[in-house]
Amino acid sequence: MKEKYGFAIIGCGAIADFHARAISQVEDAKLVAVYDANSEIALSFAAKRQVDIYDDYEKLLNSSAVDVVNICTPSGLHAKLAVRALNAGKNVMVEKPLGLNVKECDEVIQAAKQNKKICAVISQLRYSKSTGLVKKAIDEGAIGRPVEASVYMKYYRTPEYYSSSKWRGTWQMDGGGALMNQGIHGVDLLLHFMGRVKSVQAITKTLMHKIEVEDTAIAIVEFENGAVGVIEGTTSVHPGYPRRFEICGTHGSIIMEEDRIIKWDIKEAPDIKENKNIDTSGHCNPVAISDEGHIFQVQDMINALKEGKNVQNDAVSGKIPVELICAIYQAAKTGKAVFISGGKS
Ligand SMILES: NC(=O)c1ccc[n+]([C@@H]2O[C@H](COP(=O)([O-])OP(=O)(O)OC[C@H]3O[C@@H](n4cnc5c(N)ncnc54)[C@H](O)[C@@H]3O)[C@@H](O)[C@H]2O)c1
Repeated sequence: MKEKYGFAIIGCGAIADFHARAISQVEDAKLVAVYDANSEIALSFAAKRQVDIYDDYEKLLNSSAVDVVNICTPSGLHAKLAVRALNAGKNVMVEKPLGLNVKECDEVIQAAKQNKKICAVISQLRYSKSTGLVKKAIDEGAIGRPVEASVYMKYYRTPEYYSSSKWRGTWQMDGGGALMNQGIHGVDLLLHFMGRVKSVQAITKTLMHKIEVEDTAIAIVEFENGAVGVIEGTTSVHPGYPRRFEICGTHGSIIMEEDRIIKWDIKEAPDIKENKNIDTSGHCNPVAISDEGHIFQVQDMINALKEGKNVQNDAVSGKIPVELICAIYQAAKTGKAVFISGGKS
């Protein structure tokens, strides 16, 4: 067995720091190489860490020192770069979203399967204690029959957030706006809690920012378990508020803001034994997020490699929120309800 698994980061921008810090904190993981299409960015990133810089992605993929490739580029490149890495025999950790549409996600799923390699998709919110408590309460029936489950993401991004970047806010590289970029975490957690969505109706708008994609979206969803809910996402409301989940059932309800459970009104289980009060401000600052989830997911990859098993959030799971967000866009475009193909009708 290897002493340490070698990780390589592709795309050395804002989120790459989280990957580098997470890798440095996991025993048996070591950052060995980086590549960025902008060589100055790669140089400055590598200068802080003693790692090899590559000027070509293919060359990096040929290095035997690299076991896992962490893809931190603009979203429109995720699927393409992931497929190339998997075909080169590397394991992959790809930032959200896995791809910009179902077809791209399926290509990654297929490449992982064919090459018998692991592909993890970053969805760091899934791994907090609060998330675990909420999921357990729902799965064990503590809230009774789920009736309404909604997520509200009233965020604020400055105009400079978009104008300072060539790729953010474009269909080709961001794949969408308030939902596909900022809101996908909340959408993913809602699906994690409630299971799959059967149908969706939606309105999307671009109300504040000078971007191609939506800066505001509202969707009404019907889950396969029969419950209904609302998904709200925007990057246009000042000053921005914490992400809020309201999960309500026949025997109890839970409200969670960011990673804090602020209401736990459950008849059969009135006390929460543990609750971690991590207060982040990702709703108004995209990098004000905790490192913990990325550390968990790097550790999960190491465990999977050592024990020959799969990761908890693989490409198959990573496709599910993308599929729902694309269905929301389709519903908004056509003004009609869209039935998700994974659904029963
Ligand atoms: N998990 C999270 O909470 C979270 C938070 C922020 C961003 N993200 C995701 O991370 C990704 C990157 O976001 P960011 O904010 O770090 O973007 P960024 O613009 O700060 O960084 C992207 C980097 O990729 C490089 N790049 C562009 N094309 C490339 C190519 N072909 N090959 C190699 N490098 C290339 C750019 O030069 C840049 O350095 C996005 O997909 C975003 O959705 C996730």
